[in-house]
Amino acid sequence: MSRVAFVTGGGRGIGAATARRIAREGIAVVVADRDLDAARVVAADIGGLAVRVDVSDSAAVDAAVARAVEWGGGLHLACNNAGVTGTRAELADYPDDVFWRVQRVNVGGVLACMRAQLPHLLAAGGGAIVNTASGAGLGGVARSAAYVASKHAIVGLTKTAAVEYATRGVRVNAVAPGLVRTGLVQGLDDFTAAHPIGRAAEPEEVAEAVWWLLDDRSSFVTGAVLPVDGGLLAAVPGLS
Ligand SMILES: NC(=O)c1ccc[n+]([C@@H]2O[C@H](COP(=O)([O-])OP(=O)(O)OC[C@H]3O[C@@H](n4cnc5c(N)ncnc54)[C@H](O)[C@@H]3O)[C@@H](O)[C@H]2O)c1
Repeated sequence: MSRVAFVTGGGRGIGAATARRIAREGIAVVVADRDLDAARVVAADIGGLAVRVDVSDSAAVDAAVARAVEWGGGLHLACNNAGVTGTRAELADYPDDVFWRVQRVNVGGVLACMRAQLPHLLAAGGGAIVNTASGAGLGGVARSAAYVASKHAIVGLTKTAAVEYATRGVRVNAVAPGLVRTGLVQGLDDFTAAHPIGRAAEPEEVAEAVWWLLDDRSSFVTGAVLPVDGGLLAAVPGLS
């Protein structure tokens, strides 16, 4: 029986590239997205299962993970990647409703997904989870309070889960991408110059890092937050 992976936000961008990358390993992939049409396109290409889920709805997440297990006969790997950015405003002006909507999707989504996935990973004898954080999970970004707070929280959830499950065969890590060429960041090309490599990433470059963290080749890596950012966080501002 093939191993089974669950990828949220799998219909587009980094999630779609990750679903395709994992499928190349012969793993059965569940492509979970709030946009079912987008998930279906990816799932059809890779022989996976498309499921509609809004990750901010924990009951819907439970149902989607249960459906994945029913379809694949178990669950071994997960990439909790669905996320939204919110609005751009300075902190004193940041709208409450947008702030909490971003937390519900980005933080609540990762929590709900891991909570639903972990019992199945344990039942399978172990597995691995990679959450999609961001460079904005490791440092501040002006006019992005909701997104930055949510991505820092994802780092915290990742490290906590890593510590809790380390002796039980489940590794939990995160990737922290810089700017990646997806629909999420259209119009943010002005950030490209901040990356020492001099360009934004392709989604496939992040997917490759996710796959390495999911794969047994990273068997001693847990609780790590891997920058995939063309040197963005390594640069000393003003000197680079
Ligand atoms: N693109 C970047 O530069 C960049 C950088 C760092 C981190 N990230 C993170 O990578 C992740 C993926 O971003 P992307 O750039 O591929 O974005 P994208 O917009 O191209 O794709 C996101 C996918 O997630 C889905 N989605 C959004 N909200 C959802 C929800 N509530 N429930 C289920 N699915 C939902 C969307 O339908 C879409 O298919 C996000 O967590 C984002 O914060 C992106």
